[in-house]
Amino acid sequence: MKSLTIHTLIITIFFFTISTSFASPPRLEDVFSQCTTDFKPSNPNFPIQNFTYTQQDPSFLTILNNYVRNLRYFNNTTRKPVAIVAAADVTHIQATITCAKRLSLQLRIRSGGHDYDGMSYLSTVEFVVLDMFNLRSIEFDPKLDTAWVQSGATLGEIYYGVANKSNDLRGFPAGICPGLGAGGHFSGGGYGNMMRKYGLSIDNIIDAKIVDAKGRVLDRSSMGEDLFWALRGGGAASFCVVLAWKIKLVPVPGKVTVFNVETVGNRGGVNTTELVLKWQEIADKTDDNLFIRLTLSTSNKTVKASFMGMFLGDSAKLLEIMNTDFPELGLNKSECLEMKWIESVLFWLSIPPGTAPTSVILNRIPQKQIYLKRKSDYVQKPISRTGLDAIFKVLLENENVTMAWNPYGGRMSEIPSTETAFPHRAGNMFKIQYAANWFVQGEAVANECLSQTERVFEAMSPYVSENPREAFLNYRDVDIGTSLNSTYEEGKVYGVKYFKNNFERLVKVKSRVDPDNFFRYEQSIPVLSSH
Ligand SMILES: Cc1cc2nc3c(=O)[nH]c(=O)nc-3n(C[C@H](O)[C@H](O)[C@H](O)COP(=O)(O)OP(=O)(O)OC[C@H]3O[C@@H](n4cnc5c(N)ncnc54)[C@H](O)[C@@H]3O)c2cc1C
Ligand SMILES: *[C@@H]1O[C@H](CO)[C@@H](O)[C@H](O)[C@H]1NC(C)=O
Ligand SMILES: *[C@@H]1O[C@H](CO)[C@@H](O)[C@H](O)[C@H]1NC(C)=O
Ligand SMILES: *[C@@H]1O[C@H](CO)[C@@H](O)[C@H](O)[C@H]1NC(C)=O
Ligand SMILES: *[C@@H]1O[C@H](CO)[C@@H](O)[C@H](O)[C@H]1NC(C)=O
Ligand SMILES: *[C@@H]1O[C@H](CO)[C@@H](O)[C@H](O)[C@H]1NC(C)=O
Ligand SMILES: *[C@@H]1O[C@H](CO)[C@@H](O)[C@H](O)[C@H]1NC(C)=O
Ligand SMILES: *[C@@H]1O[C@H](CO)[C@@H](O)[C@H](O)[C@H]1NC(C)=O
Ligand SMILES: *[C@@H]1O[C@H](CO)[C@@H](O)[C@H](O)[C@H]1NC(C)=O
Ligand SMILES: *[C@@H]1O[C@H](CO)[C@@H](O)[C@H](O)[C@H]1NC(C)=O
Repeated sequence: MKSLTIHTLIITIFFFTISTSFASPPRLEDVFSQCTTDFKPSNPNFPIQNFTYTQQDPSFLTILNNYVRNLRYFNNTTRKPVAIVAAADVTHIQATITCAKRLSLQLRIRSGGHDYDGMSYLSTVEFVVLDMFNLRSIEFDPKLDTAWVQSGATLGEIYYGVANKSNDLRGFPAGICPGLGAGGHFSGGGYGNMMRKYGLSIDNIIDAKIVDAKGRVLDRSSMGEDLFWALRGGGAASFCVVLAWKIKLVPVPGKVTVFNVETVGNRGGVNTTELVLKWQEIADKTDDNLFIRLTLSTSNKTVKASFMGMFLGDSAKLLEIMNTDFPELGLNKSECLEMKWIESVLFWLSIPPGTAPTSVILNRIPQKQIYLKRKSDYVQKPISRTGLDAIFKVLLENENVTMAWNPYGGRMSEIPSTETAFPHRAGNMFKIQYAANWFVQGEAVANECLSQTERVFEAMSPYVSENPREAFLNYRDVDIGTSLNSTYEEGKVYGVKYFKNNFERLVKVKSRVDPDNFFRYEQSIPVLSSH
């Protein structure tokens, strides 16, 4: 015992001597780690140092890279965080907030890491990443009406769990990709193929647990309705760390029906232009149980249209609706696939039916990482035949860009635009996602794909919303404006595009709950006082 103490003392003196003789300032990461270690974890089995990764750790880059979904933001010149705290306990979150604030480090919060422009793991100044992947529990109430899901849970885990517990009788309306994190995805709105029936994820969220800038753990009743409003669509990272959401599960039929009709040139004598014209007439007005996503791309110098459908019902009923509303598509019975809702999740990932167990959606780390760019638009009036011809021409000239047109209407039009911070409700026919993916590093390829995306986006301007040209927060796009100085003026540029008239209310909430602007990043909500 004694010898141990002396040993420790000698070591201490040794290190003290080194550090004083070289008179080098302590490293920021050591100061940060020391600061967080002073917080006692509520669970003694979870000392924070065991969940903290600094750049010296051999696994640092792996931990950072595990939840990078856009390789454009992970290279040797990318600024790396001072530390990554992979929180496993609420005290880890409190310690990270408090110590980051004390040391003037910015905070980046990451759940699934799917932010298209890397806002959950990038910064231009010294920062720490609070990584939520360890906090992924899902607790169902016995009647399966609701569940508490932690931010680090993925949609795949939620979908799998809900289907499993409910014998395939419940689902949850959220995104297509099973890797999305509940933390970022829900707070940006969260849309998927049940949107016309049940609205967005946020329309089915009834409570939340958060940690605020002062390190307090709050729920809906203690945070205030204005903050709970802001968290639903306003992007939580401007306000607090979301620890968990309480979601309301929705009924799904034992069998749903899906289809994917692809046409190049024409189908049954009806050409693609005519099909798209007709799709525009019906997609946002047809039965709420039916969602038909239209994807336009280039195939062999010809425009290819894919009509991918999700119907909450059987194929007989679907065909009846299609024959009335969209006979031009000529959907036939052999193209309709009936399956469990959980199986339809795989279908929407383009996994051929029956080739993989539903548990594949539990995979967290993709086999392949890609480089990508995404942008968004909203369409509020039908695009004419001439307009479509012009759009198809531009697509053919920019063959690496695809467009996904996602119909609104149904439940989306019934919810007032002020109900949650997400503003794009009635009046929107569909939302466009522009997408370019590439697979090799290099400036030339990147610039080519980025300029093609920009050209298509520019060419679309006559047909989409204006003043402001609206954008979907979950389709993060740094081109529409960023804020380095966190001024109100900077924030307003992207703020009104993402939030329209809800922007000013978000600024008020922000000014109340985080007046010192601790929770800031390149597209955060500004505080009023920095006018
Ligand atoms: C392959 C792919 C498919 C997609 N499909 C869809 C889709 O079908 N529908 C759709 O709506 N969107 C879709 N998106 C976009 C997606 O919804 C957003 O990127 C969303 O923000 C991802 O959430 P995340 O937790 O995975 O991302 P992250 O990158 O971890 O976070 C995104 C933002 O939320 C913040 N944040 C994360 N966790 C928390 C937290 N716990 N507390 C506070 N702030 C937090 C981050 O700081 C960041 O600002 C897709 C994206 C990708 C890459
Ligand atoms: C924390 O990490 C240390 C060093 O790796 C290890 O010895 C210790 O057992 C860990 N503690 C817990 C509670 O896991
Ligand atoms: C940076 O370069 C080194 C080799 O010098 C490499 O091992 C590492 O993976 C690279 N990537 C990042 C993201 O730092
Ligand atoms: C490296 O990453 C940064 C973002 O951190 C990005 O701006 C830059 O373009 C990337 N460089 C290359 C060569 O891809
Ligand atoms: C639910 O999951 C358990 C455990 O993995 C499994 O044994 C069971 O068969 C599943 N039930 C359903 C309905 O999928
Ligand atoms: C469809 O037909 C119309 C009229 O003949 C034509 O103008 C249009 O270019 C055609 N569209 C496609 C995609 O071939
Ligand atoms: C592309 O079109 C050309 C000319 O019509 C045809 O010869 C070729 O087979 C097509 N290629 C594919 C992959 O469809
Ligand atoms: C249904 O569509 C498929 C694919 O286009 C086609 O092969 C089949 O002949 C069609 N069947 C009927 C009954 O029209
Ligand atoms: C762009 O598309 C063309 C045609 O499909 C293809 O040959 C090329 O490799 C693509 N470029 C990139 C960067 O993917
Ligand atoms: C914004 O910040 C940058 C660097 O942080 C600084 O150089 C610039 O002067 C600031 N601009 C304004 C308008 O405050």
